[in-house]
Amino acid sequence: MKIILLGPPGAGKGTQAKLITEKYSIPHISTGDIFRKNISEKTPLGIEAKRYMDNGQLVPDEVTIGIVNDRLSMNDCENGFLLDGFPRTVKQAEALDSFLNSNEQKIDTALLIDVPKEFILERMTGRRVCSACGASYHIKFNTPKVENKCDVCGGLLVQRKDDTEETVKERLDVYDRQTQPLIQYYKEKNILAKVDGTEEIGMVFEKICDVLGAVAK
Ligand code: AP5
Ligand code: MG
Ligand code: ZN
Repeated sequence: MKIILLGPPGAGKGTQAKLITEKYSIPHISTGDIFRKNISEKTPLGIEAKRYMDNGQLVPDEVTIGIVNDRLSMNDCENGFLLDGFPRTVKQAEALDSFLNSNEQKIDTALLIDVPKEFILERMTGRRVCSACGASYHIKFNTPKVENKCDVCGGLLVQRKDDTEETVKERLDVYDRQTQPLIQYYKEKNILAKVDGTEEIGMVFEKICDVLGAVAK
């Protein structure tokens, strides 16, 4: 199964990606996570990406496309993968299509997690992420078993630097201008599916499983 997760910042892409990739045993490829790992390791890529991410801007297409192509070329992607946060521009979507075409592959479904803007700010400012493994929590909607500790690995939970109110607003603007057009792009390819992302996490996951079950048949 080859899946793209679409949706605004804070829609729950990372949260659902984790559940989906566990269920289907496919790799979870999050460009945001790849950049954050490089930032924490202070690699040249991390240093460049940080300049954009801290302001809520997109990392340039040339950089991002190369990283995803390299990742998709790895053996564990042969039987499927889930892309979380990529593509984010029409140029990235076209590059992905041409990469997959040349490998005689295609995306099965582009799944939009639909969440209106009024929900987003509370989700983002209440988010906490594991500093060790990147798992995502929420102080109200998805609390860890032990306060400030990751359920998965025991790592310390921290707030993302781009989860301030000002940066979230900028990220939402960037989403409207640069990423929203992808909804139409995948609609025209007849692979767009949409789920209501305003319900609680388990319910959203159930609906996603229904959609993916229908795709797999
Ligand atoms: P990225 O890391 O992809 O951030 P994003 O798209 O802004 O999305 P988020 O990770 O903020 O939200 P999410 O949808 O994963 O929500 P989550 O599950 O955590 O990108 C960061 C930056 O990297 C970009 O701004 C850009 O600079 C750069 N970048 C990345 N990819 C790029 C690309 N392709 N091209 C160029 N630049 C790129 O959930 C959010 C919160 O809500 C959590 O606290 C969660 O617990 C809670 N929650 C989740 N679901 C629910 C629910 N159903 N009900 C209540 N709460 C919920
Ligand atoms: Mg995410
Ligand atoms: Zn962790």
